[in-house]
Amino acid sequence: MQALQVPRRSIILGISAVTIFVVLYRFFGDLPVEYYRNYGPAETFTPVQTNNDRPQPGYFKAQPEWDWDVPAYSKGWQGYARPPRNRDIVVLTASDGGGHNSQIPNVLERTLDDRERYCQRHGYTNLWLNTSRYDIGEAHRTWSKIPAVAEAFYLYPSAEWVWLIDTDIIIMNPEYDLVRQILAPDAIKKGIMRDTPILDGQLKKNPTNISTPKDYRVEDIDILITQDHISVNTGSTFFRRTAFTRMLLEMMTDYTLLMGQDHAGAEQDAIKHLMLEHPLVRSHVGVYPQRKFNAYVQGSDIMGYRDGDLLVHFAGCWTGGKCQQWFEEFWGKRGHKDRWRPEKEPLPPNDPAFMRR
Ligand SMILES: *[C@@H]1O[C@H](CO)[C@@H](O)[C@H](O)[C@H]1NC(C)=O
Ligand SMILES: *[C@@H]1O[C@H](CO)[C@@H](O)[C@H](O)[C@H]1NC(C)=O
Repeated sequence: MQALQVPRRSIILGISAVTIFVVLYRFFGDLPVEYYRNYGPAETFTPVQTNNDRPQPGYFKAQPEWDWDVPAYSKGWQGYARPPRNRDIVVLTASDGGGHNSQIPNVLERTLDDRERYCQRHGYTNLWLNTSRYDIGEAHRTWSKIPAVAEAFYLYPSAEWVWLIDTDIIIMNPEYDLVRQILAPDAIKKGIMRDTPILDGQLKKNPTNISTPKDYRVEDIDILITQDHISVNTGSTFFRRTAFTRMLLEMMTDYTLLMGQDHAGAEQDAIKHLMLEHPLVRSHVGVYPQRKFNAYVQGSDIMGYRDGDLLVHFAGCWTGGKCQQWFEEFWGKRGHKDRWRPEKEPLPPNDPAFMRR
């Protein structure tokens, strides 16, 4: 009897151990092992080298940054969902300091300095990439924002989200928490607009008859963007490190099909085109209400900056000649808490009337 009891005890122990593993796996098995590896506290940190003064030799698509890596768990069409760590968010200003924005004195220096403070407050990573370094052939210069996104993922191998924001944007609410409000799976689930017309010109004049999906898998959302009254706007866009994002960036910069063609809206038209043409792209692009992260300096409650909004974008205001004055006005109101531009008639973002107006 003694002799039999020992193995029996080890059998019971063995079965219990297996059961515990099965139970643990049930609970935690849907989290990829990289989750723990990525989030390990002993992560080594080497300072990132950016060579903003040195032009890149040769055609941009041949650069090593286009081979940025994607972790195994985000290599399929079906994505994953988790709130990113703050330090894995890169706030990317892709600019050479020229263009319309140069009408405002020291605009690049000032916005970068301001974004640095915003990033330090929240632990995000602030990054400026000088876009005149990329050899993009004859394409319009705003295309060079796309190689900058690839380079940001390449330079920061643990970056999970890259937030591409134009230089003519002022962060108005420095307390704004990007993860809680925009990037966390819960925020995406609540915030993105389903079954909403994708615009290509004004809705009434040129209906595309194509809408965002009725039903998204939140795990698949890899791009977050907004639309103004005529089209998606790339002035403020979030990209997630996944195989889909890499494919999309490569398709957008396809020189024969898109980038080398004469598109008035450059990279913005490319993403709009891909959204209208490809259901797969639509299922990976989340469209938020405009003011969530791309409020314009002027416009109705749907479009124009209102108190408490994350930022203000001076999109297209260069033609009116008032940009400089407006810029200084908003710059002086950064972080304001007073009633300055209150909302008149707030509408829930998923209200069908929201998009029709
Ligand atoms: C960006 O890089 C180019 C050279 O590639 C340089 O001439 C220019 O001064 C740089 N811009 C800024 C704002 O430093
Ligand atoms: C959208 O539908 C309307 C009404 O049925 C039609 O007139 C229009 O041509 C359609 N537009 C496209 C781009 O298919």
